[in-house]
Amino acid sequence: MAEMAELRIDGKTYELPIIEGSEGERAIDISKLRNQSGVITLDPGYANTGSCMSSITFIDGDKGILRYRGIPIEEVADHSTFLEVAYLLVYGSLPTADNLANITESITLHTMLHEDFKRFFGALPKDAHPMAACSAAVGALSTFYPDCLDPRDPRQVEIAVHRLIAKLPTMAAYAYKHSIGQPMMYPRNELDYVGNFLYMLFGTPCDEYEVDPVIRNALDLLLILHADHEQNCSASTVRLVGSSMVNLFSAISSGIQALWGPSHGGANQEVIEMLASIRDQGISAREFVERAKAGDDTARLMGFGHRVYKNFDPRMKIIKGACREVLDKLGARTRLLEIAVELEEIALSDEYFVSRKLYPNVDFYSGVIYNAIGIPSNMFTAMFAIGRLPGWIAQWMELHGDSNFKIGRPRQIYTGPTETHYTPIKDR
Ligand code: ACO
Repeated sequence: MAEMAELRIDGKTYELPIIEGSEGERAIDISKLRNQSGVITLDPGYANTGSCMSSITFIDGDKGILRYRGIPIEEVADHSTFLEVAYLLVYGSLPTADNLANITESITLHTMLHEDFKRFFGALPKDAHPMAACSAAVGALSTFYPDCLDPRDPRQVEIAVHRLIAKLPTMAAYAYKHSIGQPMMYPRNELDYVGNFLYMLFGTPCDEYEVDPVIRNALDLLLILHADHEQNCSASTVRLVGSSMVNLFSAISSGIQALWGPSHGGANQEVIEMLASIRDQGISAREFVERAKAGDDTARLMGFGHRVYKNFDPRMKIIKGACREVLDKLGARTRLLEIAVELEEIALSDEYFVSRKLYPNVDFYSGVIYNAIGIPSNMFTAMFAIGRLPGWIAQWMELHGDSNFKIGRPRQIYTGPTETHYTPIKDR
């Protein structure tokens, strides 16, 4: 017999089942509440609302724990590669050597874009933001591949998944090349996933491009650390849009748009721009922290704070270590890193940030690495999207495999005028 919670409304008691997850998290199941009582729950920002049961990613925000399919992020970061993590998230367990070889081959063979995509990207303004370009291009995949749009056909879904993981880096690279007026580079099958992306981003037809293993490994790590983060804004967007039974490409295209926002993935671009503006204006880190405390939302300390982590973001700890290592190896210790470290030290001992449990998040240091390896700031969020893609796919697949599948459709409490009558225009 499930444990029950009791709710009293207007003198009547309603019993609501308590659901428990595998890590002991508890929820009150209110799915029948409105039918029984006529009352709904209200939770702006969904901070107390579970939208699904999920077995993909576990986060304990108070303890700073993050696990993919049960495996701590620290272990995944130490031992895995991005494609292996993609497999883990999408298929639910670590791949065997054969599984990994097969998915790697399939993804490698799908990296090329339809030739018409050159015209597609070429038609966008030069200064188009890569997130807008990538979202549009991913949405357009549904026009190029009408053979894999049925969310309930496992073979079609499989093909769509491989196409997406394979093609998003090519799209991001095309968007970048278009913005700087260089030829779009075709993928090269002898390179691995990340090496190929770097080649498409930085290679030109005029010169040989050799992938630097330090840069390749740093990027692989960043993609792994961004690969999933349970029901965040973009993952929830993918689920909500996907619940209309639209195809996977359309749902992911919406997820990319959601990620772009500065309160979400767009923060990585904002962080580097904040660090650069502190450097360029010659103001001190302390001065900037004071501005961020003043309650002016335009001067938030970007890369600080998180809806779930009220303790260190474990991804940030890994990235900070990698950041020093990569910059040392590249001989590129920058003023931006120094400013980031200063800001972090000041904020972590400042009452304002301590009392609100605001810690640096995943994006506080990621931009410093991207910057050091030559990736322009407007591409940072596109890097995040490439990393997050397997997570979005896993969330979308879990939604469609759920026996309780329903279209997402929240309720509201209406606060507008009560019934009023139409006034003809001459009387207004
Ligand atoms: N700088 C200064 N003050 C902050 C910051 C910040 N970065 N973040 C939160 N606060 C303050 C708020 O002003 C608020 O103060 P108050 O209680 O005096 O009104 C309090 O801390 C709580 O903040 P909320 O915005 O209510 O917290 P919420 O959980 O809704 O927001 C969010 C989390 C959006 C991440 C927020 O911390 C933020 O805007 N951070 C900066 C942007 C950022 O780095 N986003 C990336 C998040 S990670 C990711 O998506 C990959």
